[in-house]
Amino acid sequence: MRLDKLLANMGYGSRKEVKQLLKQKAVTVDGEVVKDSSIHVDPEKQNVSVFDERVQYTEYIYLMMNKPPGVISATEDLYDETVIDLLDTMSQHFKPFPVGRLDKDTEGLLLITNDGVLAHNLLSPKKHVPKTYYAKISGIVTDEDIIAFKQGVELDDGYMTKPGELKILHSGPESEIELTIQEGKFHQVKRMFEARDKKVTYLKRLTMGNLHLDEKLELGEYRPLTNDELSALKK
Ligand code: URA
Repeated sequence: MRLDKLLANMGYGSRKEVKQLLKQKAVTVDGEVVKDSSIHVDPEKQNVSVFDERVQYTEYIYLMMNKPPGVISATEDLYDETVIDLLDTMSQHFKPFPVGRLDKDTEGLLLITNDGVLAHNLLSPKKHVPKTYYAKISGIVTDEDIIAFKQGVELDDGYMTKPGELKILHSGPESEIELTIQEGKFHQVKRMFEARDKKVTYLKRLTMGNLHLDEKLELGEYRPLTNDELSALKK
């Protein structure tokens, strides 16, 4: 890979800015100062350093975000801020995208990556990857709702949902629940409750497959997945 491409990809600036770094003698390959940005290097075998710090080349980025409300799960949008806008420029250099969509007002676990294979595996309807949501519901959630969700409910467009597992945390005029579903139809959780004449007033995703939201992350914060989280997710 060309040296300038490597450094630009790893967030050291545009190719022009990378040229400036080389001019400043900040870049070494195997200990030798390099001035020519067009040389080819193998970052796995050679020690490429900038200001004496080794460039750890990785092709993929895997981030867990606690998505805040008011932000769109997309890479770009004409009007609204996106989850990608919340990332630092170094992370944005990897051209990551959110894996699946959470509604603008939904909070919680969002995986952001540039690994298309992993994203496909997590989103493919054939893989039945479970997702658990916490929600506040306007209306009294009952055991009948548990049974109905277990059997599948008919959404407003006639679609019959696959079985969902509903856990009632608190039942009252404002109920609290956890719902696990294995599909990801548009507004699915909200529409499942609408099918039961109830309204979701707050929604937060807690898990996706083996990945659990790190509750230490404030809304809008994100962090790289740990190696354990990543290997559990790929299983
Ligand atoms: N179901 C919804 O209704 N909204 C979401 O954001 C996710 C699941």
